[in-house]
Amino acid sequence: MADKLIIFDTTLRDGEQSPGASMTKDEKIRIAKQLERLRVDVIEAGFAAASPGDFESIKAIAGVIKDSTVCSLSRANDRDIARAAEALESAQRKRIHTFIATSPLHMEKKLRMTPDQVFEQAKLAVRFARQFTDDVEFSPEDGSRSDMDFLCRVIEAVISEGARTINFADTVGYGVPEMYGNMIKTLRERIPNSDKAVWSVHCHNDLGMAVANSLAGVMIGGARQVECTINGLGERAGNTALEEIVMAVRTRKDYFDLELGIDTSQIVPASKLVSQITGFAVQPNKAVVGANAFAHASGIHQDGVLKARDTYEIMRAEDVGWTANKIVLGKLSGRNAFKQRLEELGIELESEAEVNAAFARFKELADRKAEIFDEDIIAVVSDEQHSHENEFYRFVSLSQQSETGERPRAKVVFSIDGKEHACQGEGNGPVDATVNAIESQTQSGSELILFSVNAITNGTQSQGEVTMRLSKAGRIVNGVGADPDIVVASAKAYLSALNKLHSKLERLNPQL
Ligand code: KIV
Ligand code: ZN
Repeated sequence: MADKLIIFDTTLRDGEQSPGASMTKDEKIRIAKQLERLRVDVIEAGFAAASPGDFESIKAIAGVIKDSTVCSLSRANDRDIARAAEALESAQRKRIHTFIATSPLHMEKKLRMTPDQVFEQAKLAVRFARQFTDDVEFSPEDGSRSDMDFLCRVIEAVISEGARTINFADTVGYGVPEMYGNMIKTLRERIPNSDKAVWSVHCHNDLGMAVANSLAGVMIGGARQVECTINGLGERAGNTALEEIVMAVRTRKDYFDLELGIDTSQIVPASKLVSQITGFAVQPNKAVVGANAFAHASGIHQDGVLKARDTYEIMRAEDVGWTANKIVLGKLSGRNAFKQRLEELGIELESEAEVNAAFARFKELADRKAEIFDEDIIAVVSDEQHSHENEFYRFVSLSQQSETGERPRAKVVFSIDGKEHACQGEGNGPVDATVNAIESQTQSGSELILFSVNAITNGTQSQGEVTMRLSKAGRIVNGVGADPDIVVASAKAYLSALNKLHSKLERLNPQL
């Protein structure tokens, strides 16, 4: 029988380390529930010792997730490990993931420790973690730039102490596939007790090779766990993309010959949820989850696909959860139809009041947009959930004038802590004028470091989804807004980012 490939998702931990991707506890719970629907084997829910907020999120996730193992990261010290164990107390299945850097550079410059001290600390950490659970994972951080003899010594010792998973980290995305795969193979051959642990890959995408390196770790090195994130989210160039690993292994079963527990039809819903919550838009040509991943533009391809689908398609869009852009609801649809569609989309709202609020937003949209697609419903609910958390600033209305040769002007009405203000601004374009109008009142002093617009569905009547990333005093936040009018969507995104900057709700972004 084929081996199982364990899918370890770290969207909520490593993914969250992307600039502005920090999430609230509620957002993390929503993503964790979607990861469970996707049937990932392990959910790394956070880094318990990083902050009280991260601790609480892990604790909450441990309390609601039933099918996946819930894991917390911890540095290799007793305090971190005890904190991880405490956060995971109520989990049905729990894992403690402890790590310490093993490369000469990290040990000397970052940890200021000798190799012998690192060796001792790694051993003691695993021994201590085993007091709380049998499921202990150990990572040599910056493993791919570490000395092989030293790695053999450390890994043999931590396996003897009871580490059941060894995660070989390519922390800075330095590896190349053959070399990375061979390093794991050599370690497994040289370490006498290597068969007592599952070997895992953890790759970063700095050179665009995270997925290739991970798959080489599996095929050459014999790793049987892949650590990855939805949409490849993660610090710098990101982590290994879950959807690419899963679909590569599934589509090329003839080559990989591995079993997966994943429900692939939940991939696209997971991708959309993560993108909407974090404000990280998915590039259109992104494999599997990009809007163009299954679009055939050239006549030859279209003709081929019509005659026989597999001439140009190696996967089916519906297998990864793309729903054909079909009109699902309209202006006359009632609350029950709306609620039923939410259920079909796997969207859980906490209370009837939340359903009512989302339904009211849906009605507003349906008045302005004749055809409502699933993507619109997801955006409506996401908008409603964002606003729930904290609406110190609330969008009310907008008018703007732009004419060729004239400087665009905008008037924005929005409330600040319940009190309405009308502000005017001018700018290079209507969005610039809108942001200037808002700033004339809020004077936030923040810097706009990213502005992106995406069409949610096809056609010019699509809603535009705007992300605005703001930076202020070292904090980075992403605001998201959706509306058929992209200037309105921009105003909403800007106010949503200002709300996050203003919010007292803890946004968690542990940096190691
Ligand atoms: O990239 C890395 O080294 C990590 C470890 C904590 C596993 O994320
Ligand atoms: Zn990492």
